[in-house]
Amino acid sequence: MTEHRSPDARFRTSLLEENDGPAINPTDNRTMGEIIAARFSRRGFLTGSLAVAAIAATVSPLALVAADDARAAEGSAFKFDELEAGIDDKHHVAPGYDADVLLRWGDPMFADSPDFDPTKQSAEAQARQFGYNNDYVGYIPIDGSAEHGLLVVNHEYTNPHLMFPGIVKIVEKDGKKEPELAPLSKEQVDIEMAAHGGTIVEIRKDGGKWQVVRDGKLNRRITSNTEMALSGPVAGHDRVKTNADPSGTKVFGTVNNCAGGVTPWGTYVMAEENIHGYFSGELPEGHKEAANYKRLGIPEGAYEWGAHYDRFNLAKEPNEPNRFGWIVEVDVNDPNSVPRKRTAMGRFKHEGAESIVAKDGRVVFYLGDDERFDYVYKFVTKGTFNANDHAANKDLLDDGTLHVAKFAEDGTVEWLPIVFGQGPLTAENGFASQADVLIETRRAADLLGATKMDRPEDIQPNGVNGKVYVMLTNNSKRKADQVDAANPRANNAFGHIIEIAEADGDFTASKGKWEVLLKCGDPSVADVGATFSTATTANGWFGMPDNCAVDSAGRLWVATDGQGPKATGRTDGLWAVDTEGAARATSKLFFRVPIGAEMCGPLFAPDDQTAFVAVQHPGDGGEDWDGFGRPSYYEDPSTRWPDFKADMPVRPAVVAITKQGGGKIAV
Ligand code: FEO
Ligand code: CA
Ligand code: CA
Ligand code: CA
Repeated sequence: MTEHRSPDARFRTSLLEENDGPAINPTDNRTMGEIIAARFSRRGFLTGSLAVAAIAATVSPLALVAADDARAAEGSAFKFDELEAGIDDKHHVAPGYDADVLLRWGDPMFADSPDFDPTKQSAEAQARQFGYNNDYVGYIPIDGSAEHGLLVVNHEYTNPHLMFPGIVKIVEKDGKKEPELAPLSKEQVDIEMAAHGGTIVEIRKDGGKWQVVRDGKLNRRITSNTEMALSGPVAGHDRVKTNADPSGTKVFGTVNNCAGGVTPWGTYVMAEENIHGYFSGELPEGHKEAANYKRLGIPEGAYEWGAHYDRFNLAKEPNEPNRFGWIVEVDVNDPNSVPRKRTAMGRFKHEGAESIVAKDGRVVFYLGDDERFDYVYKFVTKGTFNANDHAANKDLLDDGTLHVAKFAEDGTVEWLPIVFGQGPLTAENGFASQADVLIETRRAADLLGATKMDRPEDIQPNGVNGKVYVMLTNNSKRKADQVDAANPRANNAFGHIIEIAEADGDFTASKGKWEVLLKCGDPSVADVGATFSTATTANGWFGMPDNCAVDSAGRLWVATDGQGPKATGRTDGLWAVDTEGAARATSKLFFRVPIGAEMCGPLFAPDDQTAFVAVQHPGDGGEDWDGFGRPSYYEDPSTRWPDFKADMPVRPAVVAITKQGGGKIAV
């Protein structure tokens, strides 16, 4: 949470991505110079309050607003009564819908899973239960069904102050109550490791309500200890060899799995995002990886894993960080399959990996690197997708071309290939192979002159309208002389969304056009410069777009991360955002989370009759909410969502939203 800060880095309040440290990108890649108005005024003046302001001198602004409102409201692709924005300790959904808790942290996955007992938690139990801090949610149908399938869920990180009893002490510092966190025991570290990773679980809709199939034969927990393979160009390279793995091909575990994706061939891909926090210790003096790690903020040391496991201690295993920061692919149809870290897709703080099959059958993955001033990428497979032979798609992700985006002021975007030997990616710049280029993807992209963005999060191709939506969550560090056309606001506190149209509607294209769909924030505050349509109500605007989804009708849904009492006076939630016609840039609130949480997921079932949303880190924060007003921790959380039982801690959970009486959502 943006507003929750603690001097102790182990209170990991999403701080690994929202930390206030210096921006890591050291280059002075000129963004497009000080071009502000030229680009975004091109579209901004056509609709919304900017238009009103511009024409107000000659036409009654009120009449214009009314006409604009009516057109936008009529043209909206979303039919539902909007939810009221606000802040409290519960979740809320638009009237006429049910939002049922489906899976909570600690819920048993297998016949032999112990029931959740937070006072007697063990790593063994946790590895057989639903993990912590659910983020990405995907659905893989069984036999093509929209009512029976596998739910795949990432578990991004852990919040020990909310998970473990007895480790927080409230102390008085300068007249203010502050929480203090005791060091974690090895057993607690082991629980954390088992609570990370992912879940694959069978679910079924019965009588209109979703149920978890406990002990479904494909149910699986992936953790920070699961054996994985490194595959693609980096596999076996000297820079990924360790004492424990002299082959450079076998890795234990995955961490910080943020968003992700389901491939067209039905595998689950998990993005490794903020890997820097898991590493501690110091590299040997003068080590050759020092600059590489610095570019990623490694080591950050928020986790205490390095005290117990050599692989997270740089002094003992200096190459280990090169084995994290990848996209991981999991074959969900075999619970014993070895997940593969697909190194061809680059190494950075991977946010997500949503994909689409292009006209010629190659598959395109859109990838964000979530850091202030880092980049937007896409990966194009070399081979083509074969819908009739799933085995033929097995290693598509090992061979292809990674590209990074350069956004120009004239509304075009160029996708620059990141290929060893091309342009500056040569021995002169310290690259001896494609493996070197991929291990240091950020530096390669720096050299290519990519556009420094305002924290790229989820990026979603839309197969219905052929566009691509890029969530840029915020960047309070961007100075006035650093704005460019694609990142047009200095001190961008609320983020924006860019819409890309690839050339000729071909997702593999090396060029495209782009425009800003939406600058987020409160449109009633002129200085914010938000560009929601005038039909957007006081409940309908939002800030900090993060995860997103497109339903089968091609409608865009945006989840947010970082709102709250101080930032926006509302909790995070799920907003429906029109992209077409007169309603374009109209937004409506559909669901909101309890205090302290961020909204993850979201995901629509193939029949659009269910929206799955993930409520991540509920209860993480509350000091600045006048309904609570003190530090939130295990014994005294700002909410006990979703159970509201005195002996149950607050628990991250996945929620299934359905229309009362059935039917498609928002129709
Ligand atoms: Fe884990 Fe960038 O969100
Ligand atoms: Ca995210
Ligand atoms: Ca998504
Ligand atoms: Ca985020």
